[in-house]
Amino acid sequence: MSKRKILVTNALPYANGAIHLGHLVGYVQADIWVRFQKMRGNTVYYVCGDDTHGTPIMINAEKQGMTPETFIAKMYDEHVADFAGFHIGFDEFYTTNSPENKALASNIYRRLKANGKIAVKTISQLYDPQKQMFLPDRFVKGECPKCAAKDQYGDNCEVCGATYAPTELKNPFSAVSGATPELRQSEHYFFKLSECGEFLQDWTRQPGRLQKEAANKMGEWFEAGLQDWDISRDAPYFGFEIPDAPGKYFYVWLDAPIGYIAATQHLFDRIGENLEAYWAEGSDAELYHFIGKDILYFHALFWPAVLKHSGHRTPTAINVNGFLTVNGEKMSKSRGTFITAKSYLDVGLNPEWLRYYYAAKLGSGIEDADLSLSDFVARVNSDLVGKYINIASRAAGFISKRFAGKLAVELPASPLVDKLQSAAGSLAEGFETREYSRVLREIMALTDEVNQYVDQVKPWELAKQEGKDAELHGACSLLINLFRLLTIYLKPVLPKLAADIEAFLNVGPLQWNDAAKLLLNHEIEPYSHLMTRIDTKQVEALVEANKQSLSPAVVPTTSSIEPIAPTINIDDFGKIDLRVARIIDCQHIDGAEKLLQLTLDLGDHTRNVFSGIKSAYKPEDLVGKLTVMVANLAPRKMKFGVSEGMVLAASGEGPGIYLLNPDSGAQPGMRVG
Ligand code: MSP
Ligand code: ZN
Repeated sequence: MSKRKILVTNALPYANGAIHLGHLVGYVQADIWVRFQKMRGNTVYYVCGDDTHGTPIMINAEKQGMTPETFIAKMYDEHVADFAGFHIGFDEFYTTNSPENKALASNIYRRLKANGKIAVKTISQLYDPQKQMFLPDRFVKGECPKCAAKDQYGDNCEVCGATYAPTELKNPFSAVSGATPELRQSEHYFFKLSECGEFLQDWTRQPGRLQKEAANKMGEWFEAGLQDWDISRDAPYFGFEIPDAPGKYFYVWLDAPIGYIAATQHLFDRIGENLEAYWAEGSDAELYHFIGKDILYFHALFWPAVLKHSGHRTPTAINVNGFLTVNGEKMSKSRGTFITAKSYLDVGLNPEWLRYYYAAKLGSGIEDADLSLSDFVARVNSDLVGKYINIASRAAGFISKRFAGKLAVELPASPLVDKLQSAAGSLAEGFETREYSRVLREIMALTDEVNQYVDQVKPWELAKQEGKDAELHGACSLLINLFRLLTIYLKPVLPKLAADIEAFLNVGPLQWNDAAKLLLNHEIEPYSHLMTRIDTKQVEALVEANKQSLSPAVVPTTSSIEPIAPTINIDDFGKIDLRVARIIDCQHIDGAEKLLQLTLDLGDHTRNVFSGIKSAYKPEDLVGKLTVMVANLAPRKMKFGVSEGMVLAASGEGPGIYLLNPDSGAQPGMRVG
């Protein structure tokens, strides 16, 4: 078979937060596919990178008192470490905030413009007069126009489910500053998606392009009619300025997928490959995008149309994965099931356990996949350790102790060799079509048969009997060979374990067609334990580590309530100047056990305040929050600096400290009274 040329991309994670176990579904799925294709001897490049632009990242960086560049650099390092931790073997992990991406985005835009696919239209949008910026829908809040629920986002109501325009909200306010937004007009640049219907319908209909469910979804969108796509945003915006349009920036979703090309270019410049061979119109390479179901619209409509009208090839197929639920429900911060990749690794859980579990759950469809934590423990312990690793641990010791580490010259006749070897075709087809759950079911059925053989020949008993050396040697050599075959098939899923086994077997990297060969008259290394069982305690620790500090409310009893202080009059109260303040920065202090250092914004100036709330809050959870402070308290010199006021928090006999929050809409500097 001739070698295929394959380029695989994974959705670019937002540089706006940690990688979590939900994200990992798609990355593990693609990584397995890539590793399989590489084992087959195909030329495969696997690229990804951080998606770094847009308003949320700009605002978050500001809240943390950083430039967007510093903020995304920090996220980048974290993401790289998380992916490496789960053995996601990208050939390139780049960033959309790169010179390559900037040049590519500009060139693509120029070509779209030259092809008559760009229009300029004036639109009205809500504007934050205080922050002096246009507000994306998610940054406008207010009361739902249908059910009057308070504090709803500008695009839909979480209480009644209504969808609407942000201009329809009652009592709207900017989620950035709290100010009342104004409607303002601005010129925006549009990609004429409305003219791409025919091309896209035809593109969609090509066999193998989309999964059935995704194709159906496309059908609905075609029926609803394609609208032109707004690809510009006004300054201030963290992104690339549009050529010849000062103050106008590319909307993040325009340059994000172009980041796939930029990442490829960065890789190819390094290794001397030809970019055109993979991305130019007429390319004979295969191109696959692995994405989650929430971003199908961008990848199946905008992206192929942008590629088409800018002289590029279009994707061979888009592979969509469903969403992860944990214990049957949406991931939840309060239940501790919004699990970060880092916390999983930090509690000492083996990343390959999760890779195996995900693979066992994944089919080629776009259904959601559930991570049931108890099933996870049971499955991994039984399949991987109890069945698969068991084979090696039963046989390996005898080979080293009794036969100087040498495998027999010949194997005893057994139908298992042929059975395992001839499974290669069906298993390969399963990997190719991403039917991983079927692949693992088949591999485990074979593993069961091998274990039945172990139970039949009982190497440990042969070892005790006189004159059974040859039989013992043959049986154990057979088992090591069967174990090797299973390892080849599991290698795309368990790359690190496979590498450890290659070292143990004293062989080079196993390729798919190595399944046709056997290991005879060959010296292997002494066996050391390859994989441990999951301890339920680790999983408990994981959930605990991800629970956000929502300590259960303490029901106060009469005796635990402090008596009310002596009466004062209104003038006494009036002496206390209470103000709404926004926490714009919050830091741990070296050497302080109880204190956090807060930087408070009072509207026209900031204050430095030390507060004894360290036991109750993580600094990163406070940044951006509104609270109330005593603004006219005499400054107090403390060990770590001068405290310029006091924030208000509730506490009592029971555990917990609770910072006061004004209702949303309050603005820094407002007087409380
Ligand atoms: N930045 C965009 C993608 C741009 S691609 C040019 C984005 N980023 S993301 O960080 O929100 O998501 C990254 C990937 O993880 C996406 O494929 C997304 O669908 C997927 N998932 C995010 N949460 C998920 C689950 N809970 N479950 C499964 N996949 C999930 O979207
Ligand atoms: Zn509502």
